[in-house]
Amino acid sequence: MKLITTRQDLTDCVTGWHRNGDTIGVVPTMGSLHTGHLTLVKALDGKVTRRIVTVFVNPIQFNNADDFRLYPRGLEADAALLEKTGNVDVLYAPDASQMYAPGFATRVMVSGLDSMLCGADRPGHFDGVATVVTKLLLQTRANIAAFGEKDFQQLCLIRRMIQDLDLPVSVLPVPTVREADGLALSSRNKRLSPEQRQQAVALPTALKACITAMKQGGTVEATLGVCSNALKQAGFVVHYLDLRSGSTLQPTQASDPTARLFVAASLGDIRLIDNMPLA
Ligand code: PAJ
Repeated sequence: MKLITTRQDLTDCVTGWHRNGDTIGVVPTMGSLHTGHLTLVKALDGKVTRRIVTVFVNPIQFNNADDFRLYPRGLEADAALLEKTGNVDVLYAPDASQMYAPGFATRVMVSGLDSMLCGADRPGHFDGVATVVTKLLLQTRANIAAFGEKDFQQLCLIRRMIQDLDLPVSVLPVPTVREADGLALSSRNKRLSPEQRQQAVALPTALKACITAMKQGGTVEATLGVCSNALKQAGFVVHYLDLRSGSTLQPTQASDPTARLFVAASLGDIRLIDNMPLA
């Protein structure tokens, strides 16, 4: 595996690959890699001949300076983990000056999808995501880009953006990878204290309880109310818990075959998200 840190070296590398007839898969990440990220890399097996993992903690998608400062980082450990998996050709880890030169003034904005759910309490977050993902897709010239369903709103928004901007790349969605107790793997889990880690399991537990109750005929409103209270009792501050269409992300009914539950909730200053399909 080669570590590349400059745009020029990346361009040279992917130009050579395309000249050789290679197909390129990319997994954009913010590092602090875990099995969820590695599952995205594995999902590219058999679909491409070259694999790039990008690691870049994107400053413009953090709307809270402390969240950016405290976001876990560890390029050496990330490189060692990827090296061990043995199927990554390039780790692309640009620094902020490579991505955002002085005077950088452009934002990619996906209106509508960027202001609901996580967008409502993280203004500007999805513009930052859309902007950096556009740049990473153009820089890596990938044919396929893998994204996790763990960040389902992000996945929907990126799909919309790729379609709207005619970007020549297809999206490979990958189901959420979970710990044995159901907690979705996340780089932010590293910041949980042992006590918070125990509390955190209430998140997937509440979603599963919601699904069971709705399948048994409980009304959406009442069920969401009960589960939201369960999360509060477990120590969470709940930002949203809602049933939405898996295609438009608009509020929907339990009878909608694409219906998904979406939750964002914080333990202390650590914000966690999760989602599950109803069907
Ligand atoms: P990051 O949180 O590092 O996630 C990188 C990719 O890994 C995303 O596609 C995310 O959905 C996926 N992922 C994370 N945890 C997962 C899990 N438990 N199961 C399956 N997939 C999982 O998402 C970002 O970074 C950034 O916003 C980024 C797209 C890189 C733009 O900066």
